[in-house]
Amino acid sequence: MRAITLQEPGAALTDDLPQPSPGPGEVLVRVRGSSLNGFDKKAAAGMMKGAMEYRSPAILGKDFAGTVEAVGEGASRFGVGDAVYGVVMRSYLGDGAWADFVAVGDQYGINHVPEGLDLPTAGALGLAGTTALDAVDAIAPKPGETVLIAGATGGVGAFAIQYVAAAGARVIATARPGAATDFVRQLGAAEVVDYTGDLSGQVRAIAPDGVPAVVHLAGDGAQLAALLTPEGRLASTIGFGPDQHPAAISIMGRPDPATLDRLAGDAAAGRLRVPVSRRYDLAGVPQALAEFAGALGKLAITVS
Ligand SMILES: NC(=O)c1ccc[n+]([C@@H]2O[C@H](COP(=O)([O-])OP(=O)(O)OC[C@H]3O[C@@H](n4cnc5c(N)ncnc54)[C@H](OP(=O)(O)O)[C@@H]3O)[C@@H](O)[C@H]2O)c1
Repeated sequence: MRAITLQEPGAALTDDLPQPSPGPGEVLVRVRGSSLNGFDKKAAAGMMKGAMEYRSPAILGKDFAGTVEAVGEGASRFGVGDAVYGVVMRSYLGDGAWADFVAVGDQYGINHVPEGLDLPTAGALGLAGTTALDAVDAIAPKPGETVLIAGATGGVGAFAIQYVAAAGARVIATARPGAATDFVRQLGAAEVVDYTGDLSGQVRAIAPDGVPAVVHLAGDGAQLAALLTPEGRLASTIGFGPDQHPAAISIMGRPDPATLDRLAGDAAAGRLRVPVSRRYDLAGVPQALAEFAGALGKLAITVS
């Protein structure tokens, strides 16, 4: 089968790898769609070495969507032909989703794709969507509250804007002027601040007493925490936690079946937009990796 594997350095297409077979408790998924996440970019750059074991040939890719091709012994949640999506969750780096097939456990990191959501789009939803939902749930925005989202222009941010706005809160989003500003406004941001300028001054001009909640996806956590009101809370996906500030909650995206079900249901019903700005085929992944920095929303990969 074809797959994108880690090379030294970077990532490249290989077309002679054996198709995996599902082990006990696993399903084999014929992959139709995937996407790029910050994790993939770091993994492809070899930056996870030391933090994680790399199993060669290290097939990369966290997100997947596709159809169940085969069911391993004891796997009971899905049948052959079911449309599924999710996130590859392994303790090591390898056996990822940028391939024609991936074998994954059937209990966690996977759920059904409902009617109304196509597989290439579902492939861009898993990791960024669950991480956004977990971060927004952690700050629990209230109607009328102001929430600052730092890093709003990326994949996680694009989903977070929509969930915070849907809760009735007022979103202040970070974005550069121009297309990035238009992008976050279309997703529901009421106010936009340019993070390349005086971020704190711009936020204080909008919210002089500070903001009750921050979603921290990029930038300096300490600077953002200093903008909180006394009872404020901050959810960070980039490792800014209670050791750094008492109001900070460190988020690890958890693609449990209930979260995946909620995300896919919202997307299928049109309540959540999956903001894909560019699409690539599997052979185009190296180009997508090169274009990841500066891209708006999600970069999607159509595998087949
Ligand atoms: N903990 C977890 O489980 C988990 C899961 C998923 C993601 N993450 C992490 O969460 C972060 C966001 O993920 P992502 O996939 O959305 O990444 P992404 O697509 O790279 O988005 C990050 C965005 O932040 C913007 N940005 C860069 N520097 C900034 C600054 N100083 N202030 C405000 N915005 C800034 C970038 O815009 P420009 O294009 O203008 O540079 C980019 O659009 C990444 O670091 C990722 O590794 C963690």
